[in-house]
Amino acid sequence: MKRVAILISGGGSNMVKLVESMTGDHPGRAVIVGSNDPAAAGLARAQALGVPTFAVDHRDFRGDRPGFEAALLEPLLAVRPDILCLAGFMRILTPDFVQRFQGRMLNIHPSLLPKYPGLHTHQRALDAGDRQAGATVHLVTPELDAGPILGQARVPVLPQDTADTLAARVLTQEHRLYPQVLRRFAQGDLTPLTLTAA
Ligand code: GAR
Repeated sequence: MKRVAILISGGGSNMVKLVESMTGDHPGRAVIVGSNDPAAAGLARAQALGVPTFAVDHRDFRGDRPGFEAALLEPLLAVRPDILCLAGFMRILTPDFVQRFQGRMLNIHPSLLPKYPGLHTHQRALDAGDRQAGATVHLVTPELDAGPILGQARVPVLPQDTADTLAARVLTQEHRLYPQVLRRFAQGDLTPLTLTAA
């Protein structure tokens, strides 16, 4: 059984889908959910699902990223995770932190990488006139949003789309994609998965 830790920063809708997926014959179990924001709504959602939580407020570590990461690592390492999933975790991690979880840290990003790493992905897709958008689950490497791709979900961009309507369409597919990729990954299957939504 793979022990899965999840880091979030906000509502945690992807985290909920991951936790809910890890039942029955699933090769993983959620062991902890952590956040850099003590007020993240997802923490209460995790607790309601019976998963222990912790928060390390990054604002207590201004200018001290190593200090923040050391504080983050403590409760994480205490539960001996095999896999670490970033699910809407909005802090950039240092290479030192990333290397501790090399080959076993996953992230979901709301674009069809390698397009649009970083922020404002949906507005950038609209500005570029893209006909398709989507989300990517990838292995985390020290370079931001650039690790090996484990899965992508594609959605159409509609003529009347705003960044918000497009984000909502992509998020629905994120909820399908991440649990499927995690299950495959936990089974040792790293071949990229592609989902297409009508
Ligand atoms: C998701 O759309 C996720 O792809 C994105 O944040 C949202 C979190 O939603 N992640 C990033 O932008 C990472 N750079 P959630 O908290 O409801 O899962």
